[in-house]
Amino acid sequence: SWNADRAQEIVNEHLGLEGPMLPILHALQEEFGYVGAEAAPLIAHTLNLSRAEVYGVITFYHDFRHEPAGRHILKLCRGEACQSMGSEELARDLLAKLGIDWHGRTQDGELTVEPVYCLGLCASSPAALLDGEPIARLDAATLGEAIDEARG
Ligand code: FES
Repeated sequence: SWNADRAQEIVNEHLGLEGPMLPILHALQEEFGYVGAEAAPLIAHTLNLSRAEVYGVITFYHDFRHEPAGRHILKLCRGEACQSMGSEELARDLLAKLGIDWHGRTQDGELTVEPVYCLGLCASSPAALLDGEPIARLDAATLGEAIDEARG
């Protein structure tokens, strides 16, 4: 969970870099699993920027999670081969069913869904990683089953 002292240490470790903001954000996400709203004032203060500038960067890059990840992480492929096999509809329907957007977490805290752009499984598209395990040749039914199974 978020720890302001540790976060400040991480920010300080990157101060010598030119353009420290992105390395700082990546390091914070690495440490805490997300870059929450708490990060902006701290970074803004240390780098002498406005909070708005920092928020702008955090929200511009889709790499950053804004809340802790769910217990399970589904990375759905949005690469070209998977798109040609219907991954976008699959993703849209799943996100609608779960009531979340990309990078969002389900209300019960169980699942976070994130995009990836090619998993090297193009021959078995559409593909995904569920908690790091590849799942492939997905359709709505098999994807739903895999998720249900992971959630127990
Ligand atoms: Fe999805 Fe390659 S495009 S695995």
